[in-house]
Amino acid sequence: TDNRTFRIAAIPADGVGREVVAAGRAVLDALAADSGGAFGFDWQEFPWGCDYYQRTGRMIDEDGLVQLKEFDAIYFGAVGWPTVPDHISLWGLRLKICQSFDQWANVRPVHFLPGITSPLRKADTTELDWVVVRENSEGEYAGLGGRNLAGRGRGGEVAIQSALFTEVGCERIMRFAFDLARTRSRRKVSSVTKSNAQQYGMVLWDDVFHRVADDYPDVETESVLVDAMSAKFVLHPEDLSVVVASNLNADILSDLGSALAGSLGLAASANLNPERRFPSMFEPVHGSAPDIAGQGLANPIGAVGSAALMLEHFGLPEQAARLYKAIEKTTGAGILTRDVGGTASTDNVTKALIDALAG
Ligand code: NAI
Ligand code: MG
Repeated sequence: TDNRTFRIAAIPADGVGREVVAAGRAVLDALAADSGGAFGFDWQEFPWGCDYYQRTGRMIDEDGLVQLKEFDAIYFGAVGWPTVPDHISLWGLRLKICQSFDQWANVRPVHFLPGITSPLRKADTTELDWVVVRENSEGEYAGLGGRNLAGRGRGGEVAIQSALFTEVGCERIMRFAFDLARTRSRRKVSSVTKSNAQQYGMVLWDDVFHRVADDYPDVETESVLVDAMSAKFVLHPEDLSVVVASNLNADILSDLGSALAGSLGLAASANLNPERRFPSMFEPVHGSAPDIAGQGLANPIGAVGSAALMLEHFGLPEQAARLYKAIEKTTGAGILTRDVGGTASTDNVTKALIDALAG
C-alpha cells in the first residue's frame, strides 16, 4: 500500500442513512489510523436529502454532480422520508447519481455471518454465499413513460412505464458477471428474466446471455425465470454463485437475499462505474427505515460492508478483509442490533467493530 489519501463524498441523506454513514466513517477512520499512515480518508459531507428538499426545493445542488465528480468515491446512506414523495427523492438523488455517473453495475453480495440466525434451516449446515449483480442503468428503471397520455381526465387516467434493454447494456453487465464468476470458488452465472411473458427486452437479454456465455466455456450457466429464482433463493441457495438480473428483478431478489442472511440491515452494495470515468458509489442495500430512525437501533453492518467493497474498489483487498474479519468477530461474539435478535445499539456495534480491528 502506498501513501494514499482517498477523497470521499459522504451523503448520509435521510433517516438511518445518517446513523449508518456516521458508523461507517468511524470504522474507516479507525482502520486508517491503524495503518501507520499508509492510507487515509479525506471526507466531505453533503447535506442533500429530504430535509434539504424542504428548505431549497432541490434534492441536490444544481452543480452537485460537478462537485461529486472530483471525488474518488461516494459513500451513501439512504434517501427517502415521508415528507417527500418517494419517486421524487429517489430519482432526485440516488438514481440521478447512478445514472449520471454511469454506475451500470450494482454488486450486492449475500453473505451469511456467524452468530446471526438465518430463517433458512440449511444455513446451519451448508456453506451459503452468493452475489447478485444488478443491471443498474436501464431496464425497468429507465424512467421512460408518461401519465394521462390520452388526456382522458380524472378517472380515466393512463400510465405507461416502459423498460429499456439495449444490447450494449445487456452485454456489459453479463461480461461483468462472468468475470466476477471467474474470481469465485464456484464458477457459475445464473441469469434471471421473465422472458416467457416479456417477449422483447428479456428475450434480447437471453440472446446476449447465450452469446456471451460462449466466451466463458469454463463458467457454468443457467437461465431461470424470476418467479422460479425467488423460490430457488429459499429452497436451493447452495446452488447459487453469481446471479445476474435486470434492475427491478435484482432489486427485489437482493432484498430477499439479505432477509435470508438475517436482515436487510446486513446487506452491502457497490454501484460501480467499471471504466472509472466517474466515481463509484457505495451504500447499504436498505432504505431510510423511518420506523426505527433516530433511535440508535439501526444495524451498521450493511454500511460497513459497503465500506469494505469501497476498499476493494480502491485496490486495498487486505484492508477490506480486515473489515470483514471485524464484522465476523463482532457478530460471532453476539454483539447484535435488534433486527438480528440482539439488544446492542448502533453505537455499541460500531465500537465493537473498532475494537475488533485493533485486536
Ligand atoms: P427500508 O429498507 O428503509 O426498511 C425496511 C425494513 O427494514 C424496516 O422494517 C426497517 O426498520 C428495516 N431496516 C432497514 N434498514 C435497517 C437497518 N440498518 N437496521 C435495522 N433494520 C433496518 O425500506 P422501506 O421502509 O421500504 O423504505 C423507507 C424509505 O427508504 C422510502 O422512502 C424508500 O423510498 C427509501 N429507500 C431508499 C433506498 C436507497 O436510498 N437506496 C433503498 C430502499 C428504500
Ligand atoms: Mg431495494
